[in-house]
Formats: sequence, structure tokens, C-alpha cells
Amino acid sequence: MIGVYDSGYGGLSVLRELRAVLPRHDFVYLGDSGRAPYGGRDTDTVLDFAEQCVERLFEEGCRLIVVACHTVSCVALRHLQRRYVQGPDSQRRILGVTIPAAEAAVAVSQGHVGVIGTTRTISSGTFAMEIAKLGPHRVSAHAAPLLAPIVEEAWEDSDIARLAVARYVAQFPGIDTLVLACTHYPLLLPAFEAAVGRGVRVLDPSPAVAARLLDWLARHPGYAEEGTGALRVLCTGDPDVFRRHGARFLGAELPAVQHVAEEQGRLAHRDSVRVVLGQVVRDSAPGAKTDPPR
Ligand code: DGL
Repeated sequence: MIGVYDSGYGGLSVLRELRAVLPRHDFVYLGDSGRAPYGGRDTDTVLDFAEQCVERLFEEGCRLIVVACHTVSCVALRHLQRRYVQGPDSQRRILGVTIPAAEAAVAVSQGHVGVIGTTRTISSGTFAMEIAKLGPHRVSAHAAPLLAPIVEEAWEDSDIARLAVARYVAQFPGIDTLVLACTHYPLLLPAFEAAVGRGVRVLDPSPAVAARLLDWLARHPGYAEEGTGALRVLCTGDPDVFRRHGARFLGAELPAVQHVAEEQGRLAHRDSVRVVLGQVVRDSAPGAKTDPPR
């Protein structure tokens, strides 16, 4: 069973490619939709959320996890690998999307790669570092913080989406390849292709991620056996909303989505989403000082 983790829906577009090349493998997908977007969050918060999510996937029985989220792959992958995968004999593996995406970009670029992603992905500089290991390409990288929320709203086929994409793309003069380094952006592919104009290739890294995983599994047998092609989906947000919106990213109906939520620093299964009306006052811990009245 292979675990796939993303901050929300976007990784379903990666899962779609993974299932296409591994149709007999079983997958568990965890979308942290209740806490997405991750892209503007500080690095420590991304690390905390990522730890909880991979721990949940290990508890679900996965030994191999693909971090589909570019933000997490760029800032937290090394941390996750160091914390949960000890030594070459470890029974666990955690793979990311940045290296396959960088390799795919270098393979097609004539020399000037554009990288567009979330604020945290771009500020990490990880893409530029990985591309620099592969060749002498010039890299221009810019954040596009409005785009993931537009896709979350299902507004990808709107004037707002086209205008926002065109405005961000204008920041990349001279590139020949534009890497969509955010799981949400493949849904904006028509808007990107219209905005970049002729001679610039827009690259969705998901097929390269799938090809790399296939190759990795052939070289590392035993981390994920073939099954029946089953899919389980967990999310931290509203599971009905996730199931409805998720179909756009997966390109197929989702099974019933299970709800997980943070409980004392870990993600636990919950029967239903807790909806609260009005204010919530927490009980003070025994012995804790109460705030003075204002
Ligand atoms: N999954 C995130 C990524 O690929 C996009 C959305 C977010 O900001 O959480 O970077």
C-alpha cells in the first residue's frame, strides 16, 4: 500500500498519474484540507503538519509514502526522511516530487527554466538548488499565492483565473520552460498555455513523478506489493466537500472519504466533523491560572 500526502486536493492530480502507471497497487491518500493552504505558512508549522500526516499514513499501514505536495517536498522532505527513515535497511521510505520535477525540467529546457509555486516553495530555493545539480540552467522563480485558492474555489475556468495567471506569467520574461511547482496548477493548464505564448513549454511534473516512482519500485522491491487497485481517502477538512471537489483533481469519483483531525498532536479518526456555533470557551487545565477579567 502506498501513501500519498498533500496539503489538500491538489495531490489527487499526482495520485491520478500514479494510479495510471500502477493500476494494481493500493493507495491511501491523505489531504490535509482542513489546514490548507500550506503555501504561506511558516516552515516550522509545515514541518509539524507534515510529521502528523506521515505518522497517520504509517499507522494506516503504508511503508512507502509519496509527498505529493511541492511545499512539503521543498521544505520538509529531508526532515521527514531523517526522522522516520533510518538507514538503508529501514522498512520505510518517503519520496518527494522536487527532484523528478527538476529532472523533467532540465530534460526539456533549452537553458532558462521558470518555476512557479507557493510562497514557501519559492522562498526555500530548493528547486533552484536541485536544478543547479543537474545542469547550468538559469532559473527564474516566482510565487503565485493567489492561484491555489482560485483552484480550491473551482474558479479555474474563469476570467479571474486567466487574469491572475497572465499577471504572474508576465514575471517570467525569457524562459523556455515553466514548471508548475504546485499541485493545484495543473488544473490551470489551459490558462498557463494561453498566457506563456509560443515557444514556452508548460510542464506539469506529475507524469515524471509517476515514471520515477515506477522506476524506484522496480529497484526497491518489497516496499509496496501489488494489490487490487484499491483507494482509501482521508482528509482533515469536511469529507463530503473533499469528495465533491476531489473528483476534479483525480479525474474520477472518490470513494467515501474518512475524516481525521488533530488530537493532542496527532491525527486521529473521527466519525464526523465538529461544527460549532458561536464562541467556544475551553476549560482551564486543573491548576492553570485563569486570565484576569478585562
Ligand atoms: N499542495 C500545495 C503545493 O503543492 C499547494 C497548496 C497549498 O498551498 O497548500 O505546494
